[in-house]
Amino acid sequence: MYLLIPAAGSGRRMGSAWQSQSKAPRNKLLLDLLGKPLLAWTLLAAEASQTIAWIGIMGQPIDWDDFKAIVHSLNLTKPVHFIQGGATRQESVYNGLRALPDAAEHVLIHDGARCLATPELFDRCSQALQSCDGFVAAIPVKDTIKVVNATGVIDSTPNRSQLWAAQTPQGFSVPLLKKCHAEGRDNGWEVTDDAALFEQCGLAVQIVEGEETNLKVTTPMDLAIAESILRARLF
Ligand code: C5P
Repeated sequence: MYLLIPAAGSGRRMGSAWQSQSKAPRNKLLLDLLGKPLLAWTLLAAEASQTIAWIGIMGQPIDWDDFKAIVHSLNLTKPVHFIQGGATRQESVYNGLRALPDAAEHVLIHDGARCLATPELFDRCSQALQSCDGFVAAIPVKDTIKVVNATGVIDSTPNRSQLWAAQTPQGFSVPLLKKCHAEGRDNGWEVTDDAALFEQCGLAVQIVEGEETNLKVTTPMDLAIAESILRARLF
């Protein structure tokens, strides 16, 4: 299985985490989590997965040296390819798709910032692509969700039993996802995940049970939660 890791974002919402680690704000995937950068944990899970055989990381040139040092320090047995990221996540994935070898039929896309995904989740996701063309790892939402208008007033309350929080990995047939990305670019669609492009093109996207601990590290609070999850897992 081919894995693309979008890792070309910045750390705008990480605020105080940078000061507490005495670092200048840059890519949050370089922040330390229990002695390793966030990206290292993501890569270690991919390395331990039984199905992933090829890894592509989309990053910004300013981060190349650090990314290469991380990969080197982990002694990974799987090939890792560095791919130029884009101005948005959508563009980073588009670049990643173009860098896949011609032989790639299916791909998993997993945000570098979801550094607690387990190898078992990757393998369950790879398995899912044997019986569908597109899937999203997701978990049922626990909160009641409100749709709120621009004046801060609630418009509606969707039925919670139908709501799922989308995570990554998301996985797709490569030719179909390439087609959806091309259509998205032609039509100026701006989306925050790849499933949304699949949906816009009228293609079915299956749900695969995700993991409650598979959080996306976005704020200093997420970093603290990730640390406590990892501690419980390791010690
Ligand atoms: O910013 P956010 O946490 O939503 O980003 C999700 C993932 O997409 C992160 O792993 C981030 O590095 C990646 N990303 C990217 N290219 C961008 C912006 C974000 O690969 N231009």
